[in-house]
Amino acid sequence: MTCSFTLYRLDYTRAAPWACFEIMDTVFPTDDNSSAIVHRPVIVKTQDLSKTYRTGFWLNQQVASLRSCSLEIYQGETFGLLGPNGAGKTTLLKLLLGIIRPSSGSAQLLNQPAGDQSIKQHIGYLPENPYFYDYLTGWEFLTYSAGLFDIPASIYKERIPTLLDMVGLSRQAAIKKQLRQYSKGMLQRIGMAQALINDPDIIFLDEPMSGLDPTGRYQVREVILSLKDQGKTIFFNSHVLADVEVICDRIAVLNQGELICQGSLHDLLGTPDAYFVKGQGGSLDVLKKWIDNLTFEGGYWQGYLHGNPHDFMGSVHLMNGRLITLDLRRLSLEEFFIDQINQQQTIATKN
Ligand SMILES: Nc1ncnc2c1ncn2[C@@H]1O[C@H](COP(=O)(O)OP(=O)(O)OP(=O)(O)O)[C@@H](O)[C@H]1O
Ligand SMILES: [Mg+2]
Repeated sequence: MTCSFTLYRLDYTRAAPWACFEIMDTVFPTDDNSSAIVHRPVIVKTQDLSKTYRTGFWLNQQVASLRSCSLEIYQGETFGLLGPNGAGKTTLLKLLLGIIRPSSGSAQLLNQPAGDQSIKQHIGYLPENPYFYDYLTGWEFLTYSAGLFDIPASIYKERIPTLLDMVGLSRQAAIKKQLRQYSKGMLQRIGMAQALINDPDIIFLDEPMSGLDPTGRYQVREVILSLKDQGKTIFFNSHVLADVEVICDRIAVLNQGELICQGSLHDLLGTPDAYFVKGQGGSLDVLKKWIDNLTFEGGYWQGYLHGNPHDFMGSVHLMNGRLITLDLRRLSLEEFFIDQINQQQTIATKN
Protein backbone atom coordinates (compact mmCIF):
# COMPACT_ATOMS: atom_id res chain seq x y z
CA MET A 1 0.00 0.00 0.00
CA THR A 2 2.66 2.43 1.12
CA CYS A 3 4.87 1.28 -1.71
CA SER A 4 2.29 1.92 -4.38
CA PHE A 5 1.53 5.33 -2.92
CA THR A 6 5.21 6.27 -3.02
CA LEU A 7 5.54 5.13 -6.61
CA TYR A 8 2.44 7.01 -7.56
CA ARG A 9 3.74 10.13 -5.91
CA LEU A 10 7.20 9.94 -7.43
CA ASP A 11 5.75 9.14 -10.78
CA TYR A 12 3.64 12.24 -10.80
CA THR A 13 6.19 14.51 -9.23
CA ARG A 14 8.58 13.59 -11.98
CA ALA A 15 6.05 14.09 -14.72
CA ALA A 16 4.47 17.35 -13.74
CA PRO A 17 5.18 19.84 -10.98
CA TRP A 18 1.59 20.43 -10.04
CA ALA A 19 0.82 16.81 -9.28
CA CYS A 20 2.82 16.76 -6.09
CA PHE A 21 0.94 19.77 -4.72
CA GLU A 22 -2.37 18.18 -5.32
CA ILE A 23 -1.67 14.72 -3.99
CA MET A 24 -0.58 16.20 -0.69
CA ASP A 25 -3.60 18.40 -0.67
CA THR A 26 -6.09 15.60 -1.20
CA VAL A 27 -4.60 12.96 0.95
CA PHE A 28 -5.61 10.69 -0.87
CA PRO A 29 -17.18 35.52 -26.97
CA THR A 30 -18.93 36.04 -28.90
CA ASP A 31 -20.39 32.68 -29.50
CA ASP A 32 -20.49 32.96 -33.23
CA ASN A 33 -17.79 30.32 -33.67
CA SER A 34 -19.33 27.82 -31.25
CA SER A 35 -20.93 25.76 -34.03
CA ALA A 36 -17.55 25.60 -35.83
CA ILE A 37 -15.87 24.48 -32.60
CA VAL A 38 -17.96 21.32 -32.28
CA HIS A 39 -16.56 20.10 -35.61
CA ARG A 40 -13.01 20.15 -34.25
CA PRO A 41 -11.34 17.07 -32.73
CA VAL A 42 -12.42 16.14 -29.22
CA ILE A 43 -9.56 16.77 -26.79
CA VAL A 44 -11.23 15.93 -23.49
CA LYS A 45 -14.00 13.40 -23.14
CA THR A 46 -15.71 12.01 -20.09
CA GLN A 47 -18.34 9.32 -19.98
CA ASP A 48 -20.54 8.81 -16.93
CA LEU A 49 -17.64 9.92 -14.79
CA SER A 50 -18.41 9.63 -11.09
CA LYS A 51 -16.49 10.10 -7.88
CA THR A 52 -17.60 9.09 -4.42
CA TYR A 53 -15.26 9.87 -1.55
CA ARG A 54 -15.22 7.67 1.50
CA THR A 55 -14.95 9.67 4.68
CA GLY A 56 -15.27 9.28 8.42
CA PHE A 57 -13.01 7.46 10.83
CA TRP A 58 -14.08 4.03 9.54
CA LEU A 59 -14.38 5.30 5.96
CA ASN A 60 -18.01 4.25 6.21
CA GLN A 61 -19.53 7.51 5.02
CA GLN A 62 -19.80 8.47 1.39
CA VAL A 63 -19.76 11.82 -0.37
CA ALA A 64 -20.93 11.68 -3.99
CA SER A 65 -18.87 14.55 -5.41
CA LEU A 66 -19.48 13.85 -9.08
CA ARG A 67 -22.32 11.88 -10.64
CA SER A 68 -22.37 10.50 -14.18
CA CYS A 69 -20.67 13.43 -15.82
CA SER A 70 -20.43 13.21 -19.62
CA LEU A 71 -18.88 16.02 -21.58
CA GLU A 72 -16.69 16.75 -24.55
CA ILE A 73 -14.23 19.57 -25.04
CA TYR A 74 -12.98 20.43 -28.48
CA GLN A 75 -9.58 21.49 -29.67
CA GLY A 76 -8.90 25.18 -29.24
CA GLU A 77 -12.00 25.97 -27.25
CA THR A 78 -12.24 27.80 -23.96
CA PHE A 79 -14.56 25.89 -21.69
CA GLY A 80 -15.85 27.31 -18.42
CA LEU A 81 -17.12 25.12 -15.62
CA LEU A 82 -19.44 26.94 -13.23
CA GLY A 83 -21.05 25.83 -10.03
CA PRO A 84 -21.60 26.85 -6.42
CA ASN A 85 -19.11 25.93 -3.70
CA GLY A 86 -18.91 22.19 -3.24
CA ALA A 87 -20.51 21.47 -6.63
CA GLY A 88 -17.67 19.14 -7.67
CA LYS A 89 -15.68 21.39 -10.03
CA THR A 90 -12.27 20.70 -8.51
CA THR A 91 -13.12 17.01 -8.26
CA LEU A 92 -13.82 16.91 -12.00
CA LEU A 93 -10.55 18.69 -12.77
CA LYS A 94 -8.57 16.31 -10.58
CA LEU A 95 -10.20 13.33 -12.28
CA LEU A 96 -9.31 14.71 -15.70
CA LEU A 97 -5.72 15.19 -14.64
CA GLY A 98 -5.54 11.69 -13.18
CA ILE A 99 -4.75 13.05 -9.72
CA ILE A 100 -7.65 11.08 -8.26
CA ARG A 101 -9.28 7.96 -9.65
CA PRO A 102 -12.93 7.76 -10.65
CA SER A 103 -15.36 5.53 -8.78
CA SER A 104 -16.93 4.72 -12.15
CA GLY A 105 -16.99 5.99 -15.70
CA SER A 106 -14.06 7.09 -17.83
CA ALA A 107 -12.12 10.17 -18.84
CA GLN A 108 -9.82 10.66 -21.82
CA LEU A 109 -7.44 13.44 -22.76
CA LEU A 110 -5.87 13.57 -26.21
CA ASN A 111 -7.31 10.10 -26.83
CA GLN A 112 -5.43 8.65 -23.86
CA PRO A 113 -6.83 7.66 -20.47
CA ALA A 114 -6.72 10.53 -17.97
CA GLY A 115 -3.46 10.46 -16.04
CA ASP A 116 -1.53 8.70 -18.80
CA GLN A 117 2.17 9.50 -18.61
CA SER A 118 2.50 10.19 -22.34
CA ILE A 119 0.27 13.26 -22.26
CA LYS A 120 1.69 15.00 -19.17
CA GLN A 121 4.04 17.13 -21.26
CA HIS A 122 1.07 18.63 -23.09
CA ILE A 123 -0.84 19.67 -19.98
CA GLY A 124 -0.64 22.76 -17.81
CA TYR A 125 -2.45 23.03 -14.48
CA LEU A 126 -3.08 25.78 -11.99
CA PRO A 127 -4.46 24.09 -8.85
CA GLU A 128 -7.06 25.74 -6.65
CA ASN A 129 -4.82 25.71 -3.57
CA PRO A 130 -1.33 25.08 -4.86
CA TYR A 131 1.25 24.04 -2.35
CA PHE A 132 4.34 26.06 -3.11
CA TYR A 133 7.83 25.38 -1.83
CA ASP A 134 7.87 28.65 -0.01
CA TYR A 135 11.58 28.92 0.68
CA LEU A 136 12.20 29.19 -3.09
CA THR A 137 12.07 32.49 -4.91
CA GLY A 138 9.57 32.75 -7.73
CA TRP A 139 12.37 32.45 -10.25
CA GLU A 140 13.76 29.32 -8.56
CA PHE A 141 10.30 27.81 -8.40
CA LEU A 142 9.78 28.32 -12.14
CA THR A 143 13.25 26.92 -12.86
CA TYR A 144 12.40 23.90 -10.71
CA SER A 145 9.11 23.45 -12.55
CA ALA A 146 10.91 23.68 -15.91
CA GLY A 147 13.30 20.97 -14.71
CA LEU A 148 10.38 18.62 -14.02
CA PHE A 149 9.51 18.83 -17.70
CA ASP A 150 13.14 18.46 -18.78
CA ILE A 151 13.03 21.83 -20.50
CA PRO A 152 16.55 22.84 -21.62
CA ALA A 153 18.08 25.84 -19.80
CA SER A 154 18.40 27.79 -23.05
CA ILE A 155 14.60 27.64 -23.43
CA TYR A 156 13.46 28.22 -19.86
CA LYS A 157 15.84 31.15 -19.36
CA GLU A 158 13.98 32.95 -22.12
CA ARG A 159 10.55 31.65 -21.22
CA ILE A 160 10.57 32.60 -17.53
CA PRO A 161 10.89 36.38 -18.04
CA THR A 162 8.26 36.25 -20.79
CA LEU A 163 5.86 34.41 -18.50
CA LEU A 164 6.53 36.80 -15.62
CA ASP A 165 5.68 39.74 -17.87
CA MET A 166 2.62 37.94 -19.11
CA VAL A 167 1.19 37.35 -15.61
CA GLY A 168 2.21 40.80 -14.38
CA LEU A 169 4.78 39.79 -11.78
CA SER A 170 7.86 41.96 -11.52
CA ARG A 171 11.13 40.23 -12.36
CA GLN A 172 12.64 41.91 -9.32
CA ALA A 173 10.12 40.24 -6.99
CA ALA A 174 10.54 36.92 -8.77
CA ILE A 175 14.31 36.97 -8.33
CA LYS A 176 14.58 38.42 -4.83
CA LYS A 177 11.52 37.37 -2.84
CA GLN A 178 10.87 33.93 -1.43
CA LEU A 179 7.38 32.62 -2.08
CA ARG A 180 6.51 32.85 1.60
CA GLN A 181 6.79 36.64 1.23
CA TYR A 182 4.33 36.71 -1.66
CA SER A 183 0.80 38.03 -1.34
CA LYS A 184 -2.13 35.81 -2.38
CA GLY A 185 -2.35 37.58 -5.72
CA MET A 186 1.39 37.20 -6.34
CA LEU A 187 1.16 33.46 -5.58
CA GLN A 188 -1.74 33.18 -7.99
CA ARG A 189 0.34 34.87 -10.68
CA ILE A 190 3.38 32.68 -10.14
CA GLY A 191 1.04 29.67 -10.16
CA MET A 192 -0.27 30.78 -13.53
CA ALA A 193 3.29 31.17 -14.87
CA GLN A 194 4.08 27.66 -13.57
CA ALA A 195 1.02 26.28 -15.38
CA LEU A 196 2.41 27.61 -18.67
CA ILE A 197 6.08 26.76 -18.22
CA ASN A 198 5.92 23.72 -20.55
CA ASP A 199 4.01 25.62 -23.26
CA PRO A 200 1.08 23.20 -22.85
CA ASP A 201 -1.63 22.45 -25.41
CA ILE A 202 -4.35 21.97 -22.82
CA ILE A 203 -4.50 24.22 -19.80
CA PHE A 204 -6.58 23.50 -16.72
CA LEU A 205 -7.13 26.45 -14.43
CA ASP A 206 -8.94 26.05 -11.12
CA GLU A 207 -10.23 29.48 -10.12
CA PRO A 208 -7.53 31.47 -11.93
CA MET A 209 -9.03 34.83 -10.85
CA SER A 210 -9.16 33.91 -7.18
CA GLY A 211 -7.44 36.42 -4.90
CA LEU A 212 -6.60 38.86 -7.68
CA ASP A 213 -7.26 42.58 -7.68
CA PRO A 214 -9.11 44.09 -10.68
CA THR A 215 -5.84 44.66 -12.57
CA GLY A 216 -4.77 41.08 -11.89
CA ARG A 217 -8.12 39.78 -13.04
CA TYR A 218 -7.82 41.80 -16.20
CA GLN A 219 -4.31 40.46 -16.80
CA VAL A 220 -5.36 36.85 -16.30
CA ARG A 221 -8.27 37.44 -18.65
CA GLU A 222 -5.85 38.81 -21.24
CA VAL A 223 -3.50 35.85 -20.72
CA ILE A 224 -6.37 33.43 -21.30
CA LEU A 225 -7.48 35.32 -24.39
CA SER A 226 -3.95 35.32 -25.80
CA LEU A 227 -3.64 31.55 -25.14
CA LYS A 228 -6.93 31.14 -26.93
CA ASP A 229 -5.54 33.09 -29.89
CA GLN A 230 -2.61 30.67 -29.94
CA GLY A 231 -5.09 27.81 -30.38
CA LYS A 232 -4.69 26.33 -26.89
CA THR A 233 -7.53 24.41 -25.31
CA ILE A 234 -8.49 25.93 -21.97
CA PHE A 235 -10.66 24.42 -19.28
CA PHE A 236 -11.31 26.52 -16.24
CA ASN A 237 -13.47 26.85 -13.16
CA SER A 238 -14.53 30.25 -12.05
CA HIS A 239 -16.99 32.09 -9.88
CA VAL A 240 -16.36 35.33 -11.76
CA LEU A 241 -19.20 35.06 -14.22
CA ALA A 242 -18.54 38.36 -15.96
CA ASP A 243 -15.12 37.06 -17.02
CA VAL A 244 -16.50 33.70 -18.04
CA GLU A 245 -19.02 35.46 -20.24
CA VAL A 246 -16.24 37.31 -22.07
CA ILE A 247 -13.75 34.46 -22.35
CA CYS A 248 -15.63 31.20 -22.90
CA ASP A 249 -16.86 29.53 -26.05
CA ARG A 250 -18.90 27.02 -24.10
CA ILE A 251 -19.82 26.51 -20.47
CA ALA A 252 -21.27 23.84 -18.23
CA VAL A 253 -23.04 24.25 -14.92
CA LEU A 254 -22.39 21.74 -12.19
CA ASN A 255 -24.53 21.52 -9.07
CA GLN A 256 -24.29 18.93 -6.30
CA GLY A 257 -22.10 16.78 -8.53
CA GLU A 258 -24.46 16.83 -11.51
CA LEU A 259 -23.99 18.57 -14.81
CA ILE A 260 -27.24 20.44 -15.16
CA CYS A 261 -26.54 22.08 -18.51
CA GLN A 262 -23.80 22.63 -21.05
CA GLY A 263 -23.54 24.49 -24.31
CA SER A 264 -22.42 27.69 -25.95
CA LEU A 265 -23.44 30.98 -24.36
CA HIS A 266 -25.48 31.52 -27.47
CA ASP A 267 -27.41 28.28 -26.91
CA LEU A 268 -27.88 28.80 -23.20
CA LEU A 269 -28.52 32.52 -22.88
CA GLY A 270 -30.36 33.04 -26.13
CA THR A 271 -29.41 35.00 -29.20
CA PRO A 272 -27.99 38.48 -28.70
CA ASP A 273 -31.13 39.88 -30.32
CA ALA A 274 -33.51 38.50 -27.66
CA TYR A 275 -36.22 40.92 -26.57
CA PHE A 276 -37.63 41.38 -23.11
CA VAL A 277 -41.31 42.27 -23.38
CA LYS A 278 -43.83 43.55 -20.88
CA GLY A 279 -47.47 44.45 -21.37
CA GLN A 280 -51.08 44.22 -20.29
CA GLY A 281 -54.22 42.43 -21.45
CA GLY A 282 -54.62 40.05 -24.37
CA SER A 283 -55.03 36.30 -24.44
CA LEU A 284 -52.99 33.96 -22.27
CA ASP A 285 -52.92 31.27 -24.97
CA VAL A 286 -51.51 33.68 -27.53
CA LEU A 287 -48.97 35.12 -25.10
CA LYS A 288 -47.71 31.63 -24.23
CA LYS A 289 -46.94 31.04 -27.90
CA TRP A 290 -44.79 34.12 -28.13
CA ILE A 291 -43.14 34.49 -24.75
CA ASP A 292 -40.63 32.32 -22.88
CA ASN A 293 -40.54 32.46 -19.09
CA LEU A 294 -43.89 34.21 -19.06
CA THR A 295 -44.72 35.66 -15.63
CA PHE A 296 -47.45 37.93 -14.26
CA GLU A 297 -46.96 40.64 -11.71
CA GLY A 298 -49.13 43.59 -10.69
CA GLY A 299 -51.46 43.09 -13.63
CA TYR A 300 -48.63 42.98 -16.20
CA TRP A 301 -47.20 40.08 -18.13
CA GLN A 302 -43.54 39.83 -19.00
CA GLY A 303 -40.89 37.51 -20.41
CA TYR A 304 -38.63 36.87 -23.38
CA LEU A 305 -39.95 37.10 -26.89
CA HIS A 306 -39.22 34.40 -29.40
CA GLY A 307 -40.10 35.36 -32.93
CA ASN A 308 -40.26 38.49 -34.99
CA PRO A 309 -40.97 41.64 -32.89
CA HIS A 310 -43.05 43.24 -35.64
CA ASP A 311 -45.30 40.20 -35.92
CA PHE A 312 -45.58 40.09 -32.14
CA MET A 313 -46.69 43.73 -32.02
CA GLY A 314 -49.33 42.93 -34.62
CA SER A 315 -50.48 39.99 -32.55
CA VAL A 316 -50.74 42.10 -29.37
CA HIS A 317 -52.79 44.64 -31.28
CA LEU A 318 -55.14 41.95 -32.62
CA MET A 319 -55.84 40.53 -29.14
CA ASN A 320 -56.47 44.03 -27.75
CA GLY A 321 -53.42 43.90 -25.53
CA ARG A 322 -51.02 46.73 -24.74
CA LEU A 323 -47.26 46.48 -25.20
CA ILE A 324 -45.37 48.60 -22.66
CA THR A 325 -41.78 47.45 -23.01
CA LEU A 326 -39.78 45.83 -25.81
CA ASP A 327 -36.13 45.85 -24.76
CA LEU A 328 -33.29 44.33 -26.71
CA ARG A 329 -31.50 42.12 -24.22
CA ARG A 330 -30.58 38.59 -23.32
CA LEU A 331 -30.10 36.96 -19.95
CA SER A 332 -26.80 37.71 -18.32
CA LEU A 333 -24.75 34.67 -17.39
CA GLU A 334 -25.32 35.54 -13.74
CA GLU A 335 -29.11 35.55 -14.16
CA PHE A 336 -28.93 32.30 -16.08
CA PHE A 337 -26.71 30.67 -13.47
CA ILE A 338 -28.91 31.67 -10.51
CA ASP A 339 -31.97 30.57 -12.43
CA GLN A 340 -30.49 27.13 -13.15
CA ILE A 341 -29.44 26.55 -9.56
CA ASN A 342 -32.83 27.70 -8.23
CA GLN A 343 -34.66 25.45 -10.68
CA GLN A 344 -32.63 22.45 -9.60
CA GLN A 345 -33.23 23.23 -5.95
CA THR A 346 -36.97 23.48 -6.57
CA ILE A 347 -36.95 20.09 -8.31
CA ALA A 348 -34.91 18.58 -5.46
CA THR A 349 -37.30 19.98 -2.84
CA LYS A 350 -40.33 18.56 -4.68
CA ASN A 351 -38.74 15.13 -4.84
N1 LIG B 1 -10.71 14.47 -0.38
C1 LIG B 1 -12.02 14.57 -0.13
N2 LIG B 1 -12.60 13.77 0.76
C2 LIG B 1 -13.93 13.83 1.02
N3 LIG B 1 -14.79 14.71 0.41
C3 LIG B 1 -14.26 15.53 -0.48
C4 LIG B 1 -12.86 15.53 -0.81
N4 LIG B 1 -12.63 16.47 -1.75
C5 LIG B 1 -13.83 17.05 -2.00
N5 LIG B 1 -14.80 16.49 -1.23
C6 LIG B 1 -16.23 16.84 -1.24
O1 LIG B 1 -16.69 16.77 -2.59
C7 LIG B 1 -17.62 17.81 -2.86
C8 LIG B 1 -17.12 18.61 -4.05
O2 LIG B 1 -15.93 19.27 -3.71
P1 LIG B 1 -15.10 20.12 -4.76
O3 LIG B 1 -13.87 20.59 -4.08
O4 LIG B 1 -14.95 19.34 -6.00
O5 LIG B 1 -16.11 21.35 -5.02
P2 LIG B 1 -15.90 22.70 -5.84
O6 LIG B 1 -17.05 22.78 -6.80
O7 LIG B 1 -14.54 22.74 -6.40
O8 LIG B 1 -16.10 23.80 -4.72
P3 LIG B 1 -15.42 25.27 -4.56
O9 LIG B 1 -16.16 26.18 -5.48
O10 LIG B 1 -15.67 25.60 -3.13
O11 LIG B 1 -13.97 25.14 -4.90
C9 LIG B 1 -17.73 18.63 -1.58
O12 LIG B 1 -18.86 18.17 -0.88
C10 LIG B 1 -16.45 18.27 -0.82
O13 LIG B 1 -16.67 18.34 0.56
MG1 LIG C 1 -12.94 23.98 -6.15
